[in-house]
Amino acid sequence: MTTWVGTSWKMNKTLAQARDYAETLAATDPGRWPGVQPFILPPATALASVSAVLGRGSHVLVGAQNAHWADDGAWTGEVSVPQVADAGATIVEIGHSERRAYFAETDATVNLKVQASLRHGLTPLVCVGEPDEVFASGSSVLHVLDQVRAALDGVDDVSSVVLAYEPIWAIGFSGRPAAAADIADVFAALSAEWGSAVRGILFGGSVNPGNALATLGVDGVDGLFIGRAAWDVTGFIGLLDLVAAR
Ligand code: PGA
Repeated sequence: MTTWVGTSWKMNKTLAQARDYAETLAATDPGRWPGVQPFILPPATALASVSAVLGRGSHVLVGAQNAHWADDGAWTGEVSVPQVADAGATIVEIGHSERRAYFAETDATVNLKVQASLRHGLTPLVCVGEPDEVFASGSSVLHVLDQVRAALDGVDDVSSVVLAYEPIWAIGFSGRPAAAADIADVFAALSAEWGSAVRGILFGGSVNPGNALATLGVDGVDGLFIGRAAWDVTGFIGLLDLVAAR
């Protein structure tokens, strides 16, 4: 079973910084992380140069943080799935809570983006997760299952989909790291409904070297989706080494 370990750089890094990060990864031995699938999601501006540094067929997959559902057209400011694929992406992150909160993404647009990614042969990395008040009310499982069902509505073959459970209360500078007990029920439910059908189910939100292995020890967790702790390439490599050595 592959363990996915990846990072979204969010809205960070110049081209030079992105290339440095990619060059450091390109210089690592492809056999250094057996059983682990590393991936990085640069901002759209750096996709092509990062992909060029790593090369096609690299041991580190490259993906986009977002893509529009239409193939082309009058959608000012957006990039399409064919465009990110052309720039070297093989993964498209869809429905991150920051996009849902600040850019009006809905379950319906998430579903359209999943369909567009699959139509073009890219792996949709579908993010779901509940706000703190839902967690506090004990309804996390229902909330998250509803989001996944909506995201995958009408998709016959989900075998290339990767899910990421990222509770909103765990993400970012104001987030609090999740204890295993906080997320076990959601993973039990996700793996019961989708575990044998999708490519993997990841956890994200304040993942760091201190909690990574405990998180991976939760039943149903197939990988880690990391923000801040992997924005520096030495942090990312440290996490990859940790996971590969477990
Ligand atoms: P974080 O971000 O690791 O910085 O909390 C996680 C995410 O948003 O995927």
